[in-house]
Amino acid sequence: MSDTLPKTEQTDELLSSHNYDGIQEYDNPTPGWWNWLFIGTIVFAPVYVLWFHSPVRENNLQTQFQTAMAENLKLQFGDLKLEPTGDNVLKYLNDEKWLDFGKTTFATHCVQCHGREGEGVSAPNLTDDSYKNVKTIADIPKVVSEGANNGAMPAWTKLHPNEIVFVSAYVASLRGKNLPSTRGVEGDEIDPWPEPPPREPSETKPEAEVSG
Ligand code: HEC
Repeated sequence: MSDTLPKTEQTDELLSSHNYDGIQEYDNPTPGWWNWLFIGTIVFAPVYVLWFHSPVRENNLQTQFQTAMAENLKLQFGDLKLEPTGDNVLKYLNDEKWLDFGKTTFATHCVQCHGREGEGVSAPNLTDDSYKNVKTIADIPKVVSEGANNGAMPAWTKLHPNEIVFVSAYVASLRGKNLPSTRGVEGDEIDPWPEPPPREPSETKPEAEVSG
């Protein structure tokens, strides 16, 4: 193609056929260094993707991120020394991060009797407003630590006090979902939970600013 293009009179170089309002350009090849850089980026891209984002590489960026977050959560967990009181349960009632933690504890230890969503299987529905053993929010961690009905509800002595607070907060958060249940209404309807305290500013900082 290129040798059919017209040559400029002055320089003898090939002119490309583009002509924009009389402005023309030489038909020079791209420089070698540019080509190699270009090829380099193409070679680099799959290596980069495979190294950092590959689902087959175990320690990819996402796993590293999740591990770091889990480590950070553990540090934060260790820093908290919570008494399983009603006030503490109330304090974490709107704290999504720790509610998620409580949900995990619930999924591990409680679902076989209380159901996947707390709707009740062999144990009462925790999503309605009626409770057998709970009159105030402070009774939730109490029932969880001490058990109820002669051990039909086991005493969870092996749980860390922080965990009791978080799983209790999760249980308290289930109230009002009123999920369909095979269990009838059990116990008495109780007063709504008190208003949770406002979150302290330090607790609402973005994750990245929380130092370990
Ligand atoms: C082996 C079955 C079983 C497991 C596991 C279990 N529970 Fe229970 N739970 C019960 C039973 C049964 C009751 C009702 C006790 C009664 O009749 O007074 C109950 C009651 C409760 C109550 C009080 C409900 C009310 O109406 O007063 C709470 C809160 C509760 N459980 C939370 C939990 C949490 C949190 C876990 C997991 C850490 C858990 N339970 C695990 C069987 C279980």
